[in-house]
Amino acid sequence: MFSLKTAVLASLTYVGLAVAQANSPYCDAFSNICYQGYYDATYDITIGLILPPLTTGTTPNYTEFLGEIIAPVSYGWTGLSIGGTMAESLLFTVWPYNGQVMFGPRWTSGYVQPLPYAGPVITLLPDSVVNSTHIKASFRCQNCTTWEEGSLGYGDLSAFQLIAYVASDTTPVDDPSSVASNMTEHDIMNFFGMELSEAHTTTTTLYDSYLGPTVAKYGQCGGTSGNFKGPYTCAVGSTCTAIDPPYYYQCV
Ligand code: HEM
Ligand SMILES: *[C@@H]1O[C@H](CO)[C@@H](O)[C@H](O)[C@H]1NC(C)=O
Ligand SMILES: *[C@@H]1O[C@H](CO)[C@@H](O)[C@H](O)[C@H]1NC(C)=O
Ligand SMILES: *[C@@H]1O[C@H](CO)[C@@H](O)[C@H](O)[C@H]1NC(C)=O
Ligand SMILES: *[C@@H]1O[C@H](CO)[C@@H](O)[C@H](O)[C@H]1NC(C)=O
Repeated sequence: MFSLKTAVLASLTYVGLAVAQANSPYCDAFSNICYQGYYDATYDITIGLILPPLTTGTTPNYTEFLGEIIAPVSYGWTGLSIGGTMAESLLFTVWPYNGQVMFGPRWTSGYVQPLPYAGPVITLLPDSVVNSTHIKASFRCQNCTTWEEGSLGYGDLSAFQLIAYVASDTTPVDDPSSVASNMTEHDIMNFFGMELSEAHTTTTTLYDSYLGPTVAKYGQCGGTSGNFKGPYTCAVGSTCTAIDPPYYYQCV
Protein backbone atom coordinates (compact mmCIF):
# COMPACT_ATOMS: atom_id res chain seq x y z
CA MET A 1 0.00 0.00 0.00
CA PHE A 2 1.47 3.30 -1.11
CA SER A 3 0.30 5.22 1.95
CA LEU A 4 2.00 2.78 4.30
CA LYS A 5 5.23 2.86 2.33
CA THR A 6 5.21 6.65 2.42
CA ALA A 7 4.51 6.70 6.13
CA VAL A 8 7.35 4.33 6.92
CA LEU A 9 9.84 6.19 4.77
CA ALA A 10 8.78 9.54 6.18
CA SER A 11 9.33 8.29 9.71
CA LEU A 12 13.01 7.73 8.95
CA THR A 13 15.67 10.31 8.39
CA TYR A 14 17.26 8.29 5.60
CA VAL A 15 14.64 8.78 2.89
CA GLY A 16 17.14 9.62 0.16
CA LEU A 17 19.31 6.60 0.80
CA ALA A 18 16.39 4.26 1.16
CA VAL A 19 14.98 5.25 -2.20
CA ALA A 20 18.29 5.31 -4.02
CA GLN A 21 19.39 1.86 -2.89
CA ALA A 22 17.24 -0.85 -4.36
CA ASN A 23 17.32 -4.63 -4.59
CA SER A 24 18.92 -6.38 -7.54
CA PRO A 25 19.24 -10.08 -8.38
CA TYR A 26 22.44 -12.02 -7.74
CA CYS A 27 23.42 -15.65 -7.21
CA ASP A 28 25.67 -16.69 -4.34
CA ALA A 29 28.82 -18.28 -5.77
CA PHE A 30 29.01 -20.91 -3.01
CA SER A 31 25.40 -21.98 -2.47
CA ASN A 32 24.17 -21.16 -5.97
CA ILE A 33 21.04 -19.76 -4.35
CA CYS A 34 19.79 -16.78 -6.33
CA TYR A 35 18.68 -13.89 -4.14
CA GLN A 36 17.26 -10.43 -4.45
CA GLY A 37 19.44 -8.21 -2.35
CA TYR A 38 21.94 -5.48 -1.98
CA TYR A 39 25.72 -5.12 -1.71
CA ASP A 40 26.89 -2.15 0.31
CA ALA A 41 30.38 -1.37 -0.98
CA THR A 42 31.05 1.19 1.75
CA TYR A 43 30.57 -1.26 4.60
CA ASP A 44 31.19 -4.48 2.63
CA ILE A 45 27.84 -5.93 3.73
CA THR A 46 25.70 -8.16 1.51
CA ILE A 47 22.05 -8.90 2.30
CA GLY A 48 19.99 -11.34 0.22
CA LEU A 49 16.48 -12.72 0.54
CA ILE A 50 14.45 -15.13 -1.57
CA LEU A 51 10.89 -16.24 -0.93
CA PRO A 52 8.97 -19.29 -2.16
CA PRO A 53 6.47 -18.80 -4.99
CA LEU A 54 3.45 -16.59 -4.40
CA THR A 55 0.41 -18.78 -4.20
CA THR A 56 -3.13 -18.02 -5.18
CA GLY A 57 -6.59 -19.41 -4.60
CA THR A 58 -7.08 -21.45 -1.48
CA THR A 59 -3.44 -22.42 -0.92
CA PRO A 60 -1.99 -20.39 1.93
CA ASN A 61 1.02 -18.26 1.12
CA TYR A 62 4.35 -19.52 2.47
CA THR A 63 5.50 -17.99 5.71
CA GLU A 64 9.22 -18.55 5.17
CA PHE A 65 12.20 -17.36 3.18
CA LEU A 66 15.89 -18.02 2.64
CA GLY A 67 18.33 -15.26 3.52
CA GLU A 68 21.99 -14.45 3.83
CA ILE A 69 24.09 -11.83 5.56
CA ILE A 70 27.75 -11.46 4.62
CA ALA A 71 29.91 -9.00 6.53
CA PRO A 72 33.57 -8.40 7.36
CA VAL A 73 34.74 -10.85 10.02
CA SER A 74 36.28 -7.88 11.85
CA TYR A 75 32.88 -6.43 12.82
CA GLY A 76 31.82 -6.94 16.42
CA TRP A 77 28.38 -7.91 15.21
CA THR A 78 26.09 -7.31 12.24
CA GLY A 79 22.30 -6.98 12.30
CA LEU A 80 19.43 -7.22 9.84
CA SER A 81 15.90 -5.85 10.12
CA ILE A 82 13.48 -7.25 7.57
CA GLY A 83 10.83 -4.79 8.74
CA GLY A 84 13.19 -1.85 8.13
CA THR A 85 12.97 -0.48 11.67
CA MET A 86 14.61 -1.37 14.94
CA ALA A 87 11.41 -1.47 16.99
CA GLU A 88 8.66 -4.03 16.40
CA SER A 89 10.50 -5.75 13.58
CA LEU A 90 11.98 -9.18 13.08
CA LEU A 91 15.72 -8.66 13.63
CA PHE A 92 18.68 -10.97 13.19
CA THR A 93 22.14 -10.68 14.69
CA VAL A 94 25.34 -12.45 13.67
CA TRP A 95 28.95 -12.53 14.83
CA PRO A 96 31.83 -15.03 14.74
CA TYR A 97 32.96 -17.11 17.70
CA ASN A 98 35.77 -19.68 17.45
CA GLY A 99 35.11 -20.13 13.75
CA GLN A 100 31.38 -20.58 14.32
CA VAL A 101 28.53 -18.49 12.97
CA MET A 102 26.56 -17.16 15.95
CA PHE A 103 23.20 -16.24 14.45
CA GLY A 104 19.72 -15.76 15.80
CA PRO A 105 16.42 -13.84 15.67
CA ARG A 106 15.67 -10.93 17.97
CA TRP A 107 12.91 -8.44 18.67
CA THR A 108 12.49 -5.26 20.67
CA SER A 109 9.73 -2.76 21.38
CA GLY A 110 11.94 0.33 21.08
CA TYR A 111 15.50 1.62 20.99
CA VAL A 112 16.48 -0.77 23.75
CA GLN A 113 18.39 -4.05 23.85
CA PRO A 114 16.84 -6.47 21.32
CA LEU A 115 16.45 -9.87 22.98
CA PRO A 116 16.33 -13.36 21.43
CA TYR A 117 12.92 -13.98 19.89
CA ALA A 118 11.09 -17.30 19.92
CA GLY A 119 8.79 -18.11 17.00
CA PRO A 120 11.00 -18.07 13.91
CA VAL A 121 12.50 -21.48 13.12
CA ILE A 122 16.03 -20.83 11.93
CA THR A 123 18.23 -23.34 10.16
CA LEU A 124 21.72 -22.38 9.09
CA LEU A 125 22.42 -23.63 5.58
CA PRO A 126 25.66 -25.46 4.73
CA ASP A 127 27.35 -22.50 3.07
CA SER A 128 27.38 -20.50 6.31
CA VAL A 129 31.02 -19.78 7.09
CA VAL A 130 33.60 -17.82 9.03
CA ASN A 131 36.83 -17.38 7.08
CA SER A 132 39.80 -15.05 7.21
CA THR A 133 37.87 -12.10 5.78
CA HIS A 134 34.13 -12.59 6.15
CA ILE A 135 31.32 -14.13 8.13
CA LYS A 136 28.32 -15.45 6.27
CA ALA A 137 25.02 -16.54 7.80
CA SER A 138 23.01 -18.37 5.16
CA PHE A 139 19.69 -19.42 6.62
CA ARG A 140 16.19 -20.74 6.18
CA CYS A 141 13.68 -18.80 8.26
CA GLN A 142 10.32 -20.49 8.81
CA ASN A 143 7.37 -18.75 10.47
CA CYS A 144 9.13 -15.52 9.57
CA THR A 145 6.75 -13.39 7.52
CA THR A 146 4.73 -12.16 10.50
CA TRP A 147 5.89 -11.25 13.97
CA GLU A 148 4.71 -9.32 17.00
CA GLU A 149 3.39 -5.96 15.74
CA GLY A 150 4.48 -6.44 12.14
CA SER A 151 4.81 -8.45 8.96
CA LEU A 152 6.88 -8.62 5.81
CA GLY A 153 5.44 -6.32 3.15
CA TYR A 154 2.92 -5.11 5.75
CA GLY A 155 0.96 -8.29 5.06
CA ASP A 156 1.38 -8.27 1.26
CA LEU A 157 4.23 -10.50 0.09
CA SER A 158 4.37 -8.68 -3.23
CA ALA A 159 4.65 -5.18 -1.75
CA PHE A 160 7.56 -2.82 -1.15
CA GLN A 161 9.64 -3.49 1.96
CA LEU A 162 12.34 -1.30 3.43
CA ILE A 163 15.22 -3.50 4.63
CA ALA A 164 17.74 -2.20 7.17
CA TYR A 165 21.13 -3.46 8.28
CA VAL A 166 23.37 -2.32 11.09
CA ALA A 167 26.76 -3.29 12.47
CA SER A 168 29.17 -2.59 15.25
CA ASP A 169 32.43 -1.71 13.55
CA THR A 170 34.76 -2.85 16.32
CA THR A 171 32.92 -3.45 19.60
CA PRO A 172 32.17 -7.14 20.18
CA VAL A 173 29.00 -8.34 21.91
CA ASP A 174 29.21 -8.81 25.68
CA ASP A 175 29.64 -12.59 25.47
CA PRO A 176 30.47 -13.80 21.95
CA SER A 177 30.14 -17.45 23.02
CA SER A 178 26.41 -17.02 23.66
CA VAL A 179 23.99 -16.43 20.80
CA ALA A 180 21.74 -14.75 23.39
CA SER A 181 24.39 -12.20 24.32
CA ASN A 182 23.52 -8.56 24.82
CA MET A 183 25.31 -5.92 22.83
CA THR A 184 25.83 -2.18 22.67
CA GLU A 185 24.51 0.14 19.98
CA HIS A 186 25.56 -0.17 16.34
CA ASP A 187 27.73 2.49 14.73
CA ILE A 188 26.90 1.49 11.15
CA MET A 189 23.35 1.75 9.80
CA ASN A 190 21.94 1.69 6.27
CA PHE A 191 18.87 0.73 4.21
CA PHE A 192 17.73 -0.50 0.84
CA GLY A 193 14.32 -0.82 -0.77
CA MET A 194 13.10 -4.29 -1.70
CA GLU A 195 10.29 -4.97 -4.15
CA LEU A 196 9.03 -8.26 -2.71
CA SER A 197 7.22 -8.94 -5.99
CA GLU A 198 10.70 -9.57 -7.47
CA ALA A 199 11.87 -11.74 -4.57
CA HIS A 200 9.93 -14.97 -5.15
CA THR A 201 11.15 -18.14 -6.81
CA THR A 202 8.88 -19.56 -9.46
CA THR A 203 9.21 -23.15 -8.24
CA THR A 204 9.71 -24.91 -4.92
CA THR A 205 12.85 -26.68 -6.24
CA LEU A 206 15.01 -24.26 -4.29
CA TYR A 207 13.62 -25.53 -1.04
CA ASP A 208 13.59 -29.19 -2.01
CA SER A 209 17.34 -29.08 -2.62
CA TYR A 210 17.91 -28.12 1.02
CA LEU A 211 15.71 -30.73 2.60
CA GLY A 212 18.43 -33.38 2.45
CA PRO A 213 18.18 -36.75 4.20
CA THR A 214 15.75 -37.29 7.06
CA VAL A 215 16.65 -36.91 10.73
CA ALA A 216 16.11 -39.92 13.00
CA LYS A 217 13.78 -39.60 15.96
CA TYR A 218 15.41 -37.59 18.81
CA GLY A 219 17.88 -35.99 16.40
CA GLN A 220 18.26 -32.21 16.04
CA CYS A 221 16.12 -30.83 13.21
CA GLY A 222 16.60 -27.09 13.62
CA GLY A 223 17.77 -24.24 15.79
CA THR A 224 21.04 -22.42 16.07
CA SER A 225 22.66 -24.65 18.70
CA GLY A 226 25.84 -26.39 17.61
CA ASN A 227 25.99 -24.35 14.41
CA PHE A 228 23.27 -26.67 13.03
CA LYS A 229 23.14 -26.80 9.23
CA GLY A 230 20.54 -29.47 8.61
CA PRO A 231 19.14 -31.79 7.55
CA TYR A 232 15.84 -30.86 9.12
CA THR A 233 13.19 -33.21 7.80
CA CYS A 234 12.10 -35.62 10.53
CA ALA A 235 11.72 -39.32 9.84
CA VAL A 236 8.15 -40.49 9.37
CA GLY A 237 6.47 -40.82 12.76
CA SER A 238 8.26 -37.93 14.40
CA THR A 239 7.73 -34.17 14.26
CA CYS A 240 10.22 -31.34 14.48
CA THR A 241 9.42 -29.80 17.88
CA ALA A 242 10.65 -26.64 19.57
CA ILE A 243 12.52 -27.79 22.69
CA ASP A 244 14.40 -24.58 23.45
CA PRO A 245 13.64 -22.07 20.70
CA PRO A 246 15.39 -20.48 18.91
CA TYR A 247 18.32 -22.75 19.84
CA TYR A 248 17.15 -26.32 19.69
CA TYR A 249 14.51 -28.23 17.75
CA GLN A 250 14.26 -32.02 17.98
CA CYS A 251 12.43 -34.77 16.12
CA VAL A 252 10.08 -36.25 18.74
C1 HEM B 1 21.69 -2.31 22.82
C2 HEM B 1 21.58 -2.41 21.52
C3 HEM B 1 21.02 -1.30 20.64
C4 HEM B 1 20.78 0.02 20.92
C5 HEM B 1 21.04 0.76 22.22
C6 HEM B 1 20.24 0.64 19.74
C7 HEM B 1 19.86 1.96 19.62
C8 HEM B 1 19.39 2.57 18.49
C9 HEM B 1 19.10 3.97 18.34
C10 HEM B 1 19.24 5.01 19.43
C11 HEM B 1 18.69 4.18 17.06
C12 HEM B 1 18.31 5.49 16.41
C13 HEM B 1 19.56 6.01 15.75
C14 HEM B 1 19.34 7.17 14.82
O1 HEM B 1 18.20 7.45 14.43
O2 HEM B 1 20.36 7.78 14.44
C15 HEM B 1 18.69 2.91 16.40
C16 HEM B 1 18.33 2.69 15.08
C17 HEM B 1 18.25 1.44 14.49
N1 HEM B 1 18.60 0.24 15.06
FE1 HEM B 1 19.35 -0.04 16.90
N2 HEM B 1 20.15 -0.32 18.76
C18 HEM B 1 20.60 -1.52 19.27
C19 HEM B 1 20.67 -2.73 18.62
C20 HEM B 1 20.13 -2.99 17.38
C21 HEM B 1 20.09 -4.27 16.73
C22 HEM B 1 20.59 -5.58 17.34
C23 HEM B 1 19.50 -4.09 15.51
C24 HEM B 1 19.21 -5.08 14.40
C25 HEM B 1 19.55 -6.33 14.39
C26 HEM B 1 19.17 -2.68 15.40
C27 HEM B 1 18.57 -2.09 14.30
C28 HEM B 1 18.35 -0.75 14.14
C29 HEM B 1 17.82 -0.17 12.93
C30 HEM B 1 17.40 -0.94 11.70
C31 HEM B 1 17.75 1.21 13.14
C32 HEM B 1 17.29 2.28 12.15
C33 HEM B 1 15.80 2.29 11.95
C34 HEM B 1 15.06 2.83 13.13
O3 HEM B 1 15.42 3.92 13.62
O4 HEM B 1 14.13 2.14 13.57
N3 HEM B 1 19.55 -2.05 16.55
N4 HEM B 1 19.13 1.93 17.28
C1 LIG C 1 -0.78 -14.80 -1.76
O1 LIG C 1 -0.18 -13.63 -2.26
C2 LIG C 1 -0.68 -13.23 -3.55
C3 LIG C 1 0.09 -12.02 -3.98
O2 LIG C 1 0.09 -11.04 -2.98
C4 LIG C 1 -2.15 -12.92 -3.47
O3 LIG C 1 -2.63 -12.60 -4.77
C5 LIG C 1 -2.87 -14.15 -2.96
O4 LIG C 1 -4.22 -13.86 -2.78
C6 LIG C 1 -2.27 -14.59 -1.63
N1 LIG C 1 -2.91 -15.82 -1.20
C7 LIG C 1 -3.38 -15.98 0.02
C8 LIG C 1 -4.05 -17.28 0.28
O5 LIG C 1 -3.26 -15.13 0.88
C1 LIG D 1 5.39 -18.12 14.97
O1 LIG D 1 6.05 -17.01 15.52
C2 LIG D 1 5.28 -16.24 16.43
C3 LIG D 1 6.11 -15.07 16.86
O2 LIG D 1 6.48 -14.29 15.76
C4 LIG D 1 4.87 -17.09 17.61
O3 LIG D 1 4.04 -16.34 18.48
C5 LIG D 1 4.13 -18.31 17.11
O4 LIG D 1 3.87 -19.16 18.20
C6 LIG D 1 4.96 -19.06 16.08
N1 LIG D 1 4.17 -20.15 15.52
C7 LIG D 1 4.62 -21.40 15.49
C8 LIG D 1 3.71 -22.40 14.87
O5 LIG D 1 5.71 -21.72 15.92
C1 LIG E 1 35.29 -15.85 2.68
O1 LIG E 1 33.87 -15.87 2.63
C2 LIG E 1 33.31 -14.90 1.80
C3 LIG E 1 31.82 -14.98 1.97
O2 LIG E 1 31.33 -16.23 1.63
C4 LIG E 1 33.76 -15.15 0.37
O3 LIG E 1 33.22 -14.15 -0.48
C5 LIG E 1 35.27 -15.11 0.30
O4 LIG E 1 35.67 -15.46 -1.01
C6 LIG E 1 35.86 -16.09 1.30
N1 LIG E 1 37.30 -15.89 1.34
C7 LIG E 1 38.16 -16.92 1.36
C8 LIG E 1 39.59 -16.54 1.46
O5 LIG E 1 37.79 -18.07 1.30
C1 LIG F 1 20.35 -8.43 28.50
O1 LIG F 1 19.68 -7.22 28.72
C2 LIG F 1 18.38 -7.40 29.29
C3 LIG F 1 17.66 -6.07 29.27
O2 LIG F 1 18.54 -4.99 29.22
C4 LIG F 1 18.52 -7.99 30.68
O3 LIG F 1 17.25 -8.19 31.25
C5 LIG F 1 19.23 -9.32 30.56
O4 LIG F 1 19.47 -9.85 31.84
C6 LIG F 1 20.56 -9.17 29.81
N1 LIG F 1 21.10 -10.48 29.55
C7 LIG F 1 22.32 -10.83 29.89
C8 LIG F 1 22.73 -12.21 29.52
O5 LIG F 1 23.09 -10.07 30.46
